[in-house]
Amino acid sequence: MLKNEVAYLNGKYSPKSELSLSILDRGFLFGDGVYELVPIYNKKIFYVDEHLNRLRNSLEQINISSDFVENDFFKDVINKLILKNNYLNHYIYIHISRGVDNKRNHIYTSECKPTVLVMGENYKPFDINLIREGKKAIIEDDYRWLKSNIKSTSLLANVLIKNKAYSNDAYEALLIRDGFLTEGSASNVFIIKDGIIKTPKLSNKLLPGITRKFLTDLICSNNLKYNECDISHDDLLMSDEIFCSSSTNPVVPIIQVDNHTISKQAGPLTMKLYNIAQSYIKSTF
Ligand code: PDD
Repeated sequence: MLKNEVAYLNGKYSPKSELSLSILDRGFLFGDGVYELVPIYNKKIFYVDEHLNRLRNSLEQINISSDFVENDFFKDVINKLILKNNYLNHYIYIHISRGVDNKRNHIYTSECKPTVLVMGENYKPFDINLIREGKKAIIEDDYRWLKSNIKSTSLLANVLIKNKAYSNDAYEALLIRDGFLTEGSASNVFIIKDGIIKTPKLSNKLLPGITRKFLTDLICSNNLKYNECDISHDDLLMSDEIFCSSSTNPVVPIIQVDNHTISKQAGPLTMKLYNIAQSYIKSTF
């Protein structure tokens, strides 16, 4: 944490170290909430409307009215945090829980007023050498629930899976449900076969990643070949290149899956897309 770093909680800006929440907050008791992680590049907010629209969508899906999520209001809060904390390249975490109840009860009441937290998070993206080197991944059963399109704060399965990857010296776990790739524990996944960039189509089984959207925008504008389709376990292992996408690291090449080598280092088309994404970010922000 930066010294005296300020965060926003329920209408107030205060130092992070002074902020606390009720033990009856349903976010704490039930993981009853949703979140967003929004990149800041050169003090500017990345794909902010897309992030806020997804936040509204997540809220609607867990029956919290999203009427109070006005884009201009959240942009103002984020810009104030950028100014107050002097963020240059950073991440903003937005967390909305259903709020504080008067007792622990699975059944929520309409009296709950959502808890709104907005704070900075300082992740260090991989440098170009690590990107060129590529990363290892493991394969894991996708045993999460069937509403993975909601950016829910209930992340226990993702946490367990990501830690399994970490303890196997891997960056990510690639998730397979009913024989087909869904996504990673904290990223979307793309493969490349015969020059075509492929990723699973959007459904309730995966998060509609904003970086996924950003990359598909770039793939289209650069006339690269692209297909949204089912990707089987075998397709994954037979692919020429694999990469993961997320807000913290837009393109992360995967060169090994379990004990199977995909390539010696990051593949050419993955690096091309990585460079296109970096140039876009540098020239736009
Ligand atoms: N996670 N799928 C899952 C399960 C994720 O957790 C994430 C991102 C993504 C990529 O989404 P986006 O491109 O919008 O970041 C896909 C964030 C980074 C996190 O939980 O911290």
